[in-house]
Amino acid sequence: MAEEKSIFSNDHPFKIVFMAVVLCLVGSVLVSAAAIGLRPQQEANARLSKQTNILQVAGLYQSPSTVGSIYNERIEPRIVDLRTGQFSDAVDPATYDEVVATRDPAMSDALTKDKDPAQIKRKAHYATVYLVKGDAGYETVIIPVHGYGLWSTLYGFIALKPDGNEIVGLQFYQHAETPGLGGEVDNPSWRAQWPGKKLYDGDALKIEVVKTGASGDYKVDGLAGATLTSAGVNNLVRYWAGQDGFGPFLKNLAEELAANG
Ligand SMILES: Cc1cc2nc3c(=O)[nH]c(=O)nc-3n(C[C@H](O)[C@H](O)[C@H](O)COP(=O)(O)O)c2cc1C
Repeated sequence: MAEEKSIFSNDHPFKIVFMAVVLCLVGSVLVSAAAIGLRPQQEANARLSKQTNILQVAGLYQSPSTVGSIYNERIEPRIVDLRTGQFSDAVDPATYDEVVATRDPAMSDALTKDKDPAQIKRKAHYATVYLVKGDAGYETVIIPVHGYGLWSTLYGFIALKPDGNEIVGLQFYQHAETPGLGGEVDNPSWRAQWPGKKLYDGDALKIEVVKTGASGDYKVDGLAGATLTSAGVNNLVRYWAGQDGFGPFLKNLAEELAANG
């Protein structure tokens, strides 16, 4: 008769299952501990990355080590109520997260297809804008924009002169378009077309991304080989600059800043 194996022998099924369970438990405790332990660092990195992008689009970026100090000195985050086009104190810009608010039916509205050219599906009631302070008052206003390209939603900022019309810069900080094709939205030579262009001619929204042959104050060339991403950028810029986006706010701000010198 075969001798019965001890449950402590390495090839006993009990020991194999027991060791597998122990390894899974140890692994999950380690991964959870790392995720929790690194969260403050991840949050700090995300904050730094956002601040870097805001300084870059405003043309204020110098080096990684100066981001915090320049941001704190020059940038004033403010909340805008997109339903009225006015500043609002309803939420705190230090903690408000537009992405989270966009998922909350109490903090956002669903958009019907005909009102959603940027394909964002829902729009938050509030948005954080960033005013850039200079010696002679506000120098720049930065608005957040997002919309669908070919593969992904592109998230970025448009920086504008205090007239709320002339573009200082456009920059995306998150997207998943194809590197070398739609991903060329990040190419500095393509982005260099935007400064100096204007959103509006009087009250008419005129900015446009065209396939090729852009000239004048309102047209920007699309990306070669990435017509669909370029169309997405056109749609999202025009949506956020338009009546359903920051259009009313930019008009109010320009009038307010002009009235206050
Ligand atoms: C693997 C792959 C990735 C692509 N990525 C993009 C992209 O990120 N953005 C884009 O607009 N077109 C992309 N395209 C090309 C589109 O399918 C389409 O051909 C292109 O937008 C047409 O642009 P064109 O008229 O300038 O040639 C990709 C195509 C392939 C095969």
